Amino acid sequence: MTFAFDIYGTLIDPMALGQVLEGMIGDKAPPFNNLWRDKQLEYSFRKAVMNQFNHFSECTSQALEYCNTFFKTRLSESQKGELLDMYRKLPAYSETLPCMQSLREKGHEIIAFSNGKKDDLISLFENAKILRHFDQIISVDEVRTFKPSPKVYELLIRKSSSSIADTWLVSANSFDIIGAAALGLKTIWLKRNTNTVFDPFGLPYTRTCDNLLDITGAVE
Ligand code: LAC
Repeated sequence: MTFAFDIYGTLIDPMALGQVLEGMIGDKAPPFNNLWRDKQLEYSFRKAVMNQFNHFSECTSQALEYCNTFFKTRLSESQKGELLDMYRKLPAYSETLPCMQSLREKGHEIIAFSNGKKDDLISLFENAKILRHFDQIISVDEVRTFKPSPKVYELLIRKSSSSIADTWLVSANSFDIIGAAALGLKTIWLKRNTNTVFDPFGLPYTRTCDNLLDITGAVE
């Protein structure tokens, strides 16, 4: 089987910047961090609809600019640079490596499947010491649009070494799961937080689990 993993929020923790942000802006850090992530994704959706693709790192830096203005936080150019640099060195979740090792031992193909630019993904994986566990790294760059455009899931289906019936998308992002389900892919929705709501679009996930370590159990 093939397991294609979303990256930010699924294998890599984008909220890990919280502490550094807190050192810069105090108690505005949690709402700032949440809005930063929401705006980053909103910008990727809008650019996909407008056919105005540029790299995901642009969405990240433009969303940071928006939040800095919205929260009146007056981050300096060097502070913004520091945050964006850290974005390329975010840590993996604690279960990421054991999950990948267990899938490899069972002979499954492991794919990174992300909005992220390929170079940024490689830098993240090198830093988190998980690069060698991926069989393939697929970036949306190849089709110059963002999730959940059907083009990106078609790319995954083309590149997977398994048939569509044996290709699973694992993601904590329900928009990603729904995008993949629309193309007939099997999906595992990673529900890290009990309060997360799955978007009621009428396209359900195939399986769900609350921890990466439960994935193989979920598909057996
Ligand atoms: C990704 C974003 C959507 O890694 O989390 O593709």
